Amino acid sequence: MAPQRASAEVRRKRVSVLFSGRGSNMASLLMAAMAPGYPAIITHAFTNVPGAGGLEIARKNEIAVDVIDHRAFDSREAHEAAVMAKLVEAKPDIICLAGYMRVLSEGFVRRYRGKILNIHPSLLPSFKGVDTHHRARIAGVRVHGATVHFVDETLDGGPIIAQAAVPIEAGDSDDTLAARVLEAEHRLYPHALALVASGKVRLSGSRIVVSDTPHETGAALYSPPLPAGDAG
Ligand code: GRF
Repeated sequence: MAPQRASAEVRRKRVSVLFSGRGSNMASLLMAAMAPGYPAIITHAFTNVPGAGGLEIARKNEIAVDVIDHRAFDSREAHEAAVMAKLVEAKPDIICLAGYMRVLSEGFVRRYRGKILNIHPSLLPSFKGVDTHHRARIAGVRVHGATVHFVDETLDGGPIIAQAAVPIEAGDSDDTLAARVLEAEHRLYPHALALVASGKVRLSGSRIVVSDTPHETGAALYSPPLPAGDAG
């Protein structure tokens, strides 16, 4: 992947990405930010896991990356204070959580209110927490997906910015379903970040205000699919 180029004209929003694992969502954001006119630039990444796969992605893309292992700290607060110090240096306009496996304190969330985005692998408010694909399959839902939302003090409960739906197919395992959702995540997160960075979506109190994003007509996902010729 070639490094992103900074655009001269409109100031693009500076983004820090926090991750703990393989970093595929961070990679999708980096890729999107290479496009001319994309309203955000990934300037910085942070991980709490020294061996995280995403580190390689950050380094290849030549973005500044900080690694602070939470296990080296006595308390959650002490680790978070170290993370915040790095963020103060990085000066992000927006913080994207991309598989960041640490719960943020109320103080952190308050400080960056309306600026922290997270991607969650379910159609919220269904299936908050972990093991979402397994739980969706066991519950027998026909449509599953991913959500990008602003982070507030609640677990996976902040205002929803954008969602992508995928069908659950007969014969799906947790893994095949996870792969289908992940593919959708990689399109959804760059889209959601662009909406926030460009100001088309913003937070007003605890509500989302959306401007200038007309819906495609006939965009419903039917699962099981409609019979051929019955598409409306
Ligand atoms: C994704 O499924 C995301 O929705 C969840 O954690 C996973 C991170 O995957 N929050 P990756 O590290 O971005 O590949």
